[in-house]
Amino acid sequence: MVKVITYGTYDLLHYGHRRLLERAKALGDYLIVGVTADSFDKSRGKINVQQSLMERIEGVRATGLADEIIIEEYEGQKIDDIRRYGVDIFTVGSDWVGKFDYLEEYCRVVYLPRTEGVSSSKVRSDKRKIAIKIIEDKGIGSKFARESTFVNGVDVLSSDSWEKEDAIYLLSMPERHYELIKKAINEGKHVLCESPLTMNESQCVELFDLAHKRNVVLMDAIKTAYGTAYNRLLLLVKSGAIGKVISVDATCTSLMGNYDSKKLKGVWSSITAWGPTALLPVFQILGTDYTDKFIASKYIDEDKNFDGFTKIDFVYPGAVASVKIAKAAKSEGSMVITGTQGYIYVPSPWWKTDYFEIKYEDQNKNKRFFYQLEGEGIRYELVAFSKAIESGINNSYVSEDISVAIAKVMEDWAAKKVREI
Ligand code: CTP
Repeated sequence: MVKVITYGTYDLLHYGHRRLLERAKALGDYLIVGVTADSFDKSRGKINVQQSLMERIEGVRATGLADEIIIEEYEGQKIDDIRRYGVDIFTVGSDWVGKFDYLEEYCRVVYLPRTEGVSSSKVRSDKRKIAIKIIEDKGIGSKFARESTFVNGVDVLSSDSWEKEDAIYLLSMPERHYELIKKAINEGKHVLCESPLTMNESQCVELFDLAHKRNVVLMDAIKTAYGTAYNRLLLLVKSGAIGKVISVDATCTSLMGNYDSKKLKGVWSSITAWGPTALLPVFQILGTDYTDKFIASKYIDEDKNFDGFTKIDFVYPGAVASVKIAKAAKSEGSMVITGTQGYIYVPSPWWKTDYFEIKYEDQNKNKRFFYQLEGEGIRYELVAFSKAIESGINNSYVSEDISVAIAKVMEDWAAKKVREI
């Protein structure tokens, strides 16, 4: 029996895929199809895949051409598979010519001519694009616009464009968010908003209710939440890798250059710029039901509207948390999650997590993790936003209760429930 193997993403299965599978099957008697796992696709830079792994497998299965379907999860797996399944022929489309010659050491390699004129990318981009308008006070939307070019299916318009938008990406000052979000939702537009969504808890709840009623997506844009390493870290913590969590300590600082304390209008303060990011792991790991909170700030303006440094301590039943944020002070931007059996250490800048360590009393058990982070998480965030709009299922990585809890901290801070230092 001649065994043939082929691999692919098979997103939105099309005629080109079917033709390839037919010819692959005809090369032998038994066809194994490797479908790439989502995380493996991401690490290869394919971030726009529209269908889930299960849907893509189902697409391949439905062709009736595969005798066996396997999942491709890691670099180098092809060699393992060829040996394990006793494969005689490896085949892929001609777009890969030369790329897999190294497999000739293990089996025959055949490149089949690619079908002209069709590809998953083309099917994806033929769909109507979601037009997103950037609304900002200062010209900091360029990073977002640049990152959007990596994402199929979205088109970012500048704020002065006359074209009609389906969604907005809100970057303006937090104090303006509430009015702007409300207006957008009432016009039936989806909203991706730089955190904090509002400076007030009840306003935040009101906006989510309104979004549900109007059937639009309202998403909190904390890019850290979308990084692969950060998500793996959360899963490890939740699955008990360090025992019970006792403390979460996160620091975020970025020193402003020379600033004029009288001209801080229009500049995000430490609490608004860094607060949501630093609070994210606290609320995601320990929840939002803290029993006590203590905020200490050092203001750098006379009106006490701008904190140069803020420290927030939380008490939970059986745990504590502490965040330190600053734009007029510098510190080590690391995160430590303390558990009863070990701890997780994320080096600076932890909010752009691509690497972290789990450490135990017995050093031999220590583990290190690395996952490539592309574009600081912005492009993954944009993919999640566009998928939520298309599917009608809000799969935001920042759940609504967390956005609301962040708004509550902002509200207390703005109401000066703060110890001044
Ligand atoms: N393939 C083909 N003809 C096409 C498209 C794909 O023969 N028109 C082959 C590829 O060469 C590969 C397999 O189908 O062997 C799976 O390809 P995949 O990367 O999943 O599909 P693409 O349409 O090429 O996806 P993308 O546009 O995202 O690159």
